[in-house]
Amino acid sequence: MNAIEIRNLSKSFRGMYAVDHLNMTVPVGAIYGFIGENGSGKSTTEKLICGHLVPDEGEIKLFGRDYTDAGVRVRVGALIENAGCFPGSSVYQNLRMQTINLGLENPDEEIRRVLEIVRMEDSANIKFKSCSLGMKQRIGIAMALLGDPALLILDEPINGLDTDGMRIMREILVDITQKYGCTVLISSHILGELEKIATHYGIIRQGKMIMEISAEEMDSRAQVFVSVKTKDMKGAGDALLAKYGNVKTEDGYLRVYDVNDTEELVAYLYEKGHVVSELKKNKIGLEEYYIELMSKKEAE
Ligand SMILES: Nc1ncnc2c1ncn2[C@@H]1O[C@H](COP(=O)(O)OP(=O)(O)OP(=O)(O)O)[C@@H](O)[C@H]1O
Ligand SMILES: [Mg+2]
Repeated sequence: MNAIEIRNLSKSFRGMYAVDHLNMTVPVGAIYGFIGENGSGKSTTEKLICGHLVPDEGEIKLFGRDYTDAGVRVRVGALIENAGCFPGSSVYQNLRMQTINLGLENPDEEIRRVLEIVRMEDSANIKFKSCSLGMKQRIGIAMALLGDPALLILDEPINGLDTDGMRIMREILVDITQKYGCTVLISSHILGELEKIATHYGIIRQGKMIMEISAEEMDSRAQVFVSVKTKDMKGAGDALLAKYGNVKTEDGYLRVYDVNDTEELVAYLYEKGHVVSELKKNKIGLEEYYIELMSKKEAE
């Protein structure tokens, strides 16, 4: 079953499409990385799924049911823009208010549960305004997790976080999916981070979904390349170009694509009088894949 299934979804503002006949499929249990440049329609799509905006046309199904169905709405938690917390109230008080809004039974137990998930068991009495950005983002996730949702929608939750903050967030998101069986839709610009956890990707451009792909498929499609260093980079570059065709200079290395046999490459360079001083085998990452895809679209 799919957690989210969107067909032909559109939303326009002042006659301009923010979301333009968009299709999207998010399988249950996925961490779905939602990628697109500024203004491409990520937040609008997420607000439509959450029911914060009304679509012009199209269909949104959550767990096989229409998204307006009350039974399905309670299974969705979201953090879009900010946590909507009262700055002068403590973390606990903010969560307590939300449990009242949601009419949850056993609020204290539920608050303990979500604080544990976001690794903030010891911070319940801190005022929201005294929390760091990383903590605020985690409180936002804790708020969204109240009531044990089956689907969590997070709009740029790792923006502005430091390395440690991002690592904790990564661990939390993996926990949420693996331990609690929750599906996560996460939009982000930080592709290197997203790549470490996402199981699926959706790439949106000008309101249209231009590609949906699983991480597995992306990995198998990712071009393999070999990076080499030699004393005479220019001469070695020319020699490689003559044999392999697809050669670039990148980060001080000569990058050769689609090489099956690295030993053959080293032997070939040696034959041409170039001794390889360094060699790395690598795969194109999400960031490069994305940039390449966008430049192809630009050229169309
Ligand atoms: N309430 C609104 N009124 C008018 N235009 C809007 C509104 N919300 C979004 N838009 C427009 O819709 C388009 C898509 O915006 P959206 O916020 O969904 O993009 P985004 O992909 O989330 O961008 P970002 O990466 O900057 O967050 C933009 O052109 C934006 O200006
Ligand atoms: Mg946005």
